[in-house]
Amino acid sequence: MCGIVAYTGYREAYPVLLKGLKRLEYRGYDSAGIALLNGDLNVYKKKGKVSDLESHLKETQLHSTIGVGHTRWATHGQPNDVNAHPHYSFNKRLAIIHNGIIENYNVLKQDLTNKGYQFLSETDSEVLVHFIEDVQANSNCSLEEAIRLALHQVVGAYAIVVISKDHPDTLFAARKGSPLVIGVGKGEHFLASDATPIIEYTSDVIYLDDLEIAVITKDKVSIKSLDDVLTTPYVHTLEMELEAIEKNGFDHFMLKEIFEQPKSVKDSMRGRVNAAKGHLLLGGLRDYLNKLVHAQRVVILGCGTSWHAGLVAEYLFEEFARIPVEVEYASEFRYRNPIINEGDVVIAISQSGETADTLAAIELAKSKGAIIFGVCNVVGSSIPRATHAGAYTHAGPEIGVASTKAFTAQVTVLSMMAIIVARAKGTITESQYQELLVEFENIPAKIQRILDKHAQIEYIADIFKDARNFLFLGRGYNFPVALEGALKLKEISYIHAEGYPAAEMKHGPIALIDEEMPVVFIATRDSSYEKIISNIQEVRARKGRVIVVATEGDALVEKMAEFVIEIPHTHEALVPLLSVIPLQILSYHIAVMRGCNVDQPRNLAKSVTVE
Ligand code: M6R
Repeated sequence: MCGIVAYTGYREAYPVLLKGLKRLEYRGYDSAGIALLNGDLNVYKKKGKVSDLESHLKETQLHSTIGVGHTRWATHGQPNDVNAHPHYSFNKRLAIIHNGIIENYNVLKQDLTNKGYQFLSETDSEVLVHFIEDVQANSNCSLEEAIRLALHQVVGAYAIVVISKDHPDTLFAARKGSPLVIGVGKGEHFLASDATPIIEYTSDVIYLDDLEIAVITKDKVSIKSLDDVLTTPYVHTLEMELEAIEKNGFDHFMLKEIFEQPKSVKDSMRGRVNAAKGHLLLGGLRDYLNKLVHAQRVVILGCGTSWHAGLVAEYLFEEFARIPVEVEYASEFRYRNPIINEGDVVIAISQSGETADTLAAIELAKSKGAIIFGVCNVVGSSIPRATHAGAYTHAGPEIGVASTKAFTAQVTVLSMMAIIVARAKGTITESQYQELLVEFENIPAKIQRILDKHAQIEYIADIFKDARNFLFLGRGYNFPVALEGALKLKEISYIHAEGYPAAEMKHGPIALIDEEMPVVFIATRDSSYEKIISNIQEVRARKGRVIVVATEGDALVEKMAEFVIEIPHTHEALVPLLSVIPLQILSYHIAVMRGCNVDQPRNLAKSVTVE
């Protein structure tokens, strides 16, 4: 939530910041702003998208080689010009950009108001920059010291960058709970919420850690802890390619990411699965495999789509590894007093690796002695750094707010984990193991076959685009897929949609069925096939409009459904990797046909770094 970008060096800062903000816009798109320092410290900001800011500044001379930029997802105060970042301090000598929430901002604001400070916006971020100014004035110290002292009194989460009229070539940055990456160039430095604004200039980056302050000039980065201890930063080399963060001819990132899945699933398996040699390896699991083999229970944490991937993993771990599993919403887990026993292993799933609730749930589980295993996509993000071990999903950057390729990559990695553990425990036979390995390798080509039916799904989307409600029903491994299908549709098309286990329908949702209700069944040929066929009959009997995702060649379903989307046959446990694809495509087209902003749905942001 909220994107931060900053630059100091020899280039014109404005184009660097503008391009960076466009790359970060998926993190928030309520308003955007920049501050440039060139003798004067000038702030320019606008409600709306980065393109609105760009149009607003078309005629303005914007020369400077140092500046900061921000794209906002509103927390405190409406999205408008005044609440947009950057915010000046009271004397206008400082400006701040902030991602996160200052929880005690009301107390700080009251104190500052009593001292005569006035505020223009309703934001917590403006309070913080006024507070830094006040601390410096009272302590008669350097700006770096003032930031440190101020942050010691702040409760909450932040990634901040401060720019000062009195330090014409310096950026001051700090983080706690919200990400910041420093790009290291020659005679220039970059700062951003993630690496996407940086990679076109340099692949050398430093991940700022929690409770660290960085003082950055064009030639130097100096990092200290909040306790004033100098640290030696580690420079990582990014492997990300520029192409991976561009649309490459697709209308939307979401569509590009849906179509990337044959490759992204293959990337998740690369070097890990080799059916011919009978190999299945997850390097990150090696040191902790014993813990999982002897686990009394697995607790899976995640939010949104990642939670759905966790539900798929529940079926996998229980079926193959015979370990009891509980799948928890991280946001609920963190505020309960959950019971973690010795022998429990926690798996935390997150695409971004920055979700605040998941991070907090991990910390809670750690404090109770749990071993935490992370399944994340973004390399170097906060969750992989907070866990004991983990496996990256290697899906590549996911920019569309609606998660697609991250889900299939998560399910791929979780399936591999379950099978590795099962084999080590001896709870699957060698022939089951070998059959699964072969089927893993077949999955990318099978996904491609579904993508090739894209036009047929677009046709169905056109018929149902004006529906007011949708139901998605599945059983077994396809139940989490039904939930995921409903989430995809509602978040990008704003159609009310619900996912249910198909058998639960008769306990309530069946009352919703009438001739206007589209019901999407995921009814592949597996162990619950006969049962779900009965559920389809129940909906037909009440005149619901039946769309079925079915296994290729299913003549029975063909007779019963108004529309059938066929997917190739696969091992039952791997079906979610295929059955989710038509639902992603259906949601995408319905949203586009309804004129919705698919990549930036209203009210949402890609990484939810606030609770
Ligand atoms: O980055 P994470 O996987 O932790 O994000 C979790 C959810 O915020 C995310 O899956 C969200 O539900 C997506 N918009 C779903 O498409």
